[in-house]
Amino acid sequence: MTTNEPLLLIDDANAVRTIHVNRPDKLNALNAATIDALDAAFADAGFDPSVRVVVLTGSGPKAFVAGADISEMNTLTPVQGRDFSLRGTRMMRRVEKLTKPVIAMVNGYAFGGGLELAMCCHLRIAADTAKMGQPEINLGLIPGFGGTQRLLRLAGRAATLELCLTGAPITAERALQLGIVNRVVPTAELESDTMKLAAQLANAAPLALRGMLDCVNIGGECAIEEGLEYESAQFGLVFATDDMREGTSAFLEKRKPAFNGR
Ligand code: COA
Repeated sequence: MTTNEPLLLIDDANAVRTIHVNRPDKLNALNAATIDALDAAFADAGFDPSVRVVVLTGSGPKAFVAGADISEMNTLTPVQGRDFSLRGTRMMRRVEKLTKPVIAMVNGYAFGGGLELAMCCHLRIAADTAKMGQPEINLGLIPGFGGTQRLLRLAGRAATLELCLTGAPITAERALQLGIVNRVVPTAELESDTMKLAAQLANAAPLALRGMLDCVNIGGECAIEEGLEYESAQFGLVFATDDMREGTSAFLEKRKPAFNGR
C-alpha cells in the first residue's frame, strides 16, 4: 500500500454505505488527515438520501483501527494535543449523532482511538479474533477521543477503570460480556452477518430509526422526566409519516411493509 492510496475506501450497495479506514500498513491508525476524511465522509453519509445505513470497518486482515497515530502524537505540544483531541472528538460526535444507524464491523485490533471509534457507532459486531483495549497508559497518555466517557456509559465504572488503568487488551468474548460489543461472530462470517443486519436496518422505516437514535442520543443524556417527554414528542412526530401509516396498515392487511422514508 503506498501513501497515494485513499485514506478511506467507500462503497454503496442497496442503501448501505461501507466505509473502510484504509491505512492497513499502519493498522489503520488515525492520523489527522484520516480523522478529517472520516468527518467529511460521515457528514456526506448523513445528508445523502440514498444512504440508510453506514458500516464502518478497517482495511486489511489485522485491524479495525489500532488507535490514534502514535508517530503523529509523539511531537505534539499541549495546545496541539488538545486540538488533536478536539478533532477526533468532533468527528466521533458526528458519527454518534448521525441520524442513520452506524454499525462498527470490528474486524481486528480496536485499540485506543480504534475502540473509541467503535464505541461511538450505534452497534458493534466483532470478529471472534478481534482484540480491544485502551492501551494509552502504556504510552503515558490517557484516552482522548471520548474513551473514558463512552466506555463508562457502555460498560460501567469497574470495567472502564480496569481497561484504562491497566491498558490490557481484552478478547471479543470478554467485550461481549462487558456490553462493549453487541455480537461476536466467527471471523469468516463477520462480513455476511454484518451485511445481513445492515440490510435489515436499510429496510426499516428510516424516520422511526432516526427518532429512536435521537431519543437515545439526546434523551439518554438528561433526567428521566425530560427523556420521557422527549420520547413522547418523537412518538407523536412519527404519526406524521407515511411510513407509520404503511407499517400499521401492512400489519392489519397481513402483508410486508415497504417504507419510503417519508
Ligand atoms: N499509530 C501509528 N502507527 C501504528 C499504530 C498506531 N497506533 N499501531 C500500529 N502502527 C504501525 C506500526 O508502527 C507498524 O509500522 P511500521 O511497519 O512502519 O513499523 C505497523 O503499524 C504494523 O504494526 P506492528 O506493531 O508491526 O504490528 P503487530 O501485529 O506486531 O502489533 C499491535 C499490533 C496493535 C499490538 C501494535 O501495533 C500496537 O501495539 N499498536 C499500538 C496500539 C496502541 O497503543 N494504540 C493506542 C494509541 S493512543
